[in-house]
Amino acid sequence: MKLAVFSTRSWDRDFLSRENAAFGHELVFFETRLSAETCCLAHGYAAVCVFVNDEIDREVLQALSNGGTRLLALRCAGFNNVDLHAAAETGIHVVRVPAYSPYSVAEHTVGLLLTLNRKIHRAWQRIREGNFSLDGLLGTELRGKTAGIIGVGRIGLETARILTGFGMRILAFDPKVNPAAEAFGVSFTDLETLYREADVISLHCPLNPQTHHLIDAAALARMKPGVMLINTSRGAVIDTRAVIGALKQRTLGALGLDVYEQEGDLFFEDLSNEIIQDDVFERLLTFPNVVITGHQGFFTEEAMQNIARTTLENVRQFEAGEPLENELRG
Ligand code: NAI
Repeated sequence: MKLAVFSTRSWDRDFLSRENAAFGHELVFFETRLSAETCCLAHGYAAVCVFVNDEIDREVLQALSNGGTRLLALRCAGFNNVDLHAAAETGIHVVRVPAYSPYSVAEHTVGLLLTLNRKIHRAWQRIREGNFSLDGLLGTELRGKTAGIIGVGRIGLETARILTGFGMRILAFDPKVNPAAEAFGVSFTDLETLYREADVISLHCPLNPQTHHLIDAAALARMKPGVMLINTSRGAVIDTRAVIGALKQRTLGALGLDVYEQEGDLFFEDLSNEIIQDDVFERLLTFPNVVITGHQGFFTEEAMQNIARTTLENVRQFEAGEPLENELRG
């Protein structure tokens, strides 16, 4: 099947092309993001493939539908950037990759946590400059501390499992209790208790109207002073300005981000020769207790291979008229 692949970088081309040897689809790669301005490029393609920062709103879906598109294949798990109701109305099926490697994101989450806790980001810079002082590098042991996991689905479960290995007590909040997590000692509780008791809070819920700015000034005020916050879910689960306020007041002890509310204007691009216009993001970079990575939680060999294979299999199922096992419905 002929597939227009948007937001492609060299790694997308590499993994998709390699896995496509077993499928034989015709892949046409576009570097640009899919948006109202670029959707004309998809004209005539029955299948279109997108990633986390493509904007697939009603206008784009209508244009895709008018151009003959019948399948939208997300090569990611999150789908907050797609208007599923509009997709259903325009007759476009939407498929995704629900689980490609929760371990990749969970391990990256713990990487951020360990980096912040033992100030490895600062130590790395110091040693390169011949500064072997330990001033300001004091950490704490994780053993015996409490982690609060918000959203215990696939990634939250694996994060909880790793943190259990450190000897941490795990509290969790999720509208659905996960028995697999309870089986190894995770305690499901309400948000109030989690905020009050957790030394580290890690976000693993999807972005939706209920979780948009879940972590706002009011939530931050209810957290333990000095708490560490890690977000590898979606940027807008956090109100970034509120978080900056809490960092300035020193009530938030450390912040690890792999996602950012306005990341669409920044991430996945080399902007090292540009003047970055986002003052909120730039303010975040000034804190010694903030570590940011550019949405790379998913970025491992294993996950990329699974994403490519599942995406191409989703397209094959559609072409063959088979039931779409990874379909999203509005
Ligand atoms: P999942 O669907 O397996 O789990 C999400 C969990 O969040 C579910 O258990 C659900 O009940 C829970 N949830 C829903 N609403 C909630 C609420 N209001 N409060 C607390 N929990 C709530 O999803 P998975 O695979 O674990 O992924 C989680 C998120 O991680 C994705 O939605 C995506 O945004 C993000 N992600 C980030 C990646 C990265 O590279 N940084 C890569 C893959 C996913």
